[in-house]
Amino acid sequence: MSRALATTPSNSPQLLPPQLDATRLPRHVAVIMDGNGRWARQRGLPRVMGHRSGVEALKRTLRLCSDWGIGALTVYAFSTENWTRPGEEVTFLMTLFERVLERELEGLNREQVRIRFLGDLDRLPDGLRSLIDDATQRTAANTGIHFNVCTNYGGRSELVRAARRLAEQVACGDLDPAAIDEGRFSAELFTQDELDPDLLIRTSGEQRISNFLLWQLAYAELHITSTLWPDFDQEALLGALLDYQGRQRRFGSVESQA
Ligand code: FPP
Repeated sequence: MSRALATTPSNSPQLLPPQLDATRLPRHVAVIMDGNGRWARQRGLPRVMGHRSGVEALKRTLRLCSDWGIGALTVYAFSTENWTRPGEEVTFLMTLFERVLERELEGLNREQVRIRFLGDLDRLPDGLRSLIDDATQRTAANTGIHFNVCTNYGGRSELVRAARRLAEQVACGDLDPAAIDEGRFSAELFTQDELDPDLLIRTSGEQRISNFLLWQLAYAELHITSTLWPDFDQEALLGALLDYQGRQRRFGSVESQA
């Protein structure tokens, strides 16, 4: 993980806490980072300060996931519904994404993070789009953690887009409808070659999926914590991973008879 993203004074990688079983870590963690606004309000601060603090929580989480050997981290940074927020907040968030990318890209690249932005990126400001293109290209061959930032992302529109892309291939004779199976369908999603998340973490206590990764979360374990996103730290991530390791995953089957 980027030394620029380091949260420890020594900048040394964080060892896996002994309570965790290294062989049963989730390969892919998804996060709905909620509660930035409430965190700010509790402190009498403007909402945007919550987002700023949320970036620090994101850096901590990415660093820890990378150090602890989790293969992919996918976060919900901006939903298709978030455009309805006050104009100044939307502008602040777009500028924040740009600044963070500019500031952190070199360190992320050095630490072998592969970064992708998932969603309908056409609607994003041009400056942000070109930073995203640059970050995606520069880190595409990196061998470290996959860091996916869902931006102008909506699960339903992702599914509609996949259906439309398949329909276009059928219409021009390149695809037999009988050949459309789950694998063929998921190849048209933004997540493409990524494994499905094993664990979804949602902060701030809301018990909703909120149009996030509707297809990909089919068998994910859910961990909902009342912690507000800016307060999400090592202890909170450890709690989520311990919760995950305490679950019995059955994928619709029955418990195996040992
Ligand atoms: C939800 O809290 C948070 C967001 C909509 C924005 C999350 C964005 C970041 C943490 C910055 C990420 C930066 C990069 C570069 C990926 P909320 O505003 O809905 O909080 P509330 O529910 O308390 O109002």
